[in-house]
Amino acid sequence: MKHCLYWLIAIASTLTATGLLAQPSGAKQENVAEGAKIFKRSCSVCHSLRPNQTKNGRSLSAALRRHPSAKSQERVRRIIAEGTGNMPAFKDRLSPDEISALIAFLKQQ
Ligand code: HEC
Repeated sequence: MKHCLYWLIAIASTLTATGLLAQPSGAKQENVAEGAKIFKRSCSVCHSLRPNQTKNGRSLSAALRRHPSAKSQERVRRIIAEGTGNMPAFKDRLSPDEISALIAFLKQQ
């Protein structure tokens, strides 16, 4: 019985290593590509991704890479949905899924 368990673990590790169980990361890639499109369409007029390049709002380069915590992701999600200062709210224009894709993209910038 114990041997079965070892075999299962061995098979599972092999599958993970070969990417057969790695579906979620494939889905993530799609999210990031979708997020890039949304950024271009909705954010790039006012935000650059180049470090220190300020447009209407400041550069979002490394904004989430430097602060990857769930809390700062929540904060950015709220800013996108509700707007802040001179930034308009996007909750009527972007679905929660689109905002998630945007955040997945921003985390890599
Ligand atoms: C019309 C211009 C405009 C657009 C479009 C815009 N923003 Fe902004 N954004 C701003 C301004 C201006 C600020 C600074 C707001 C303030 O504090 O007064 C800001 C602030 C932010 C902040 C907070 C930055 C920080 O470090 O405090 C984030 C995050 C952000 N924007 C993300 C986005 C995303 C993502 C989009 C695309 C969905 C977007 N913005 C679209 C103008 C814009």
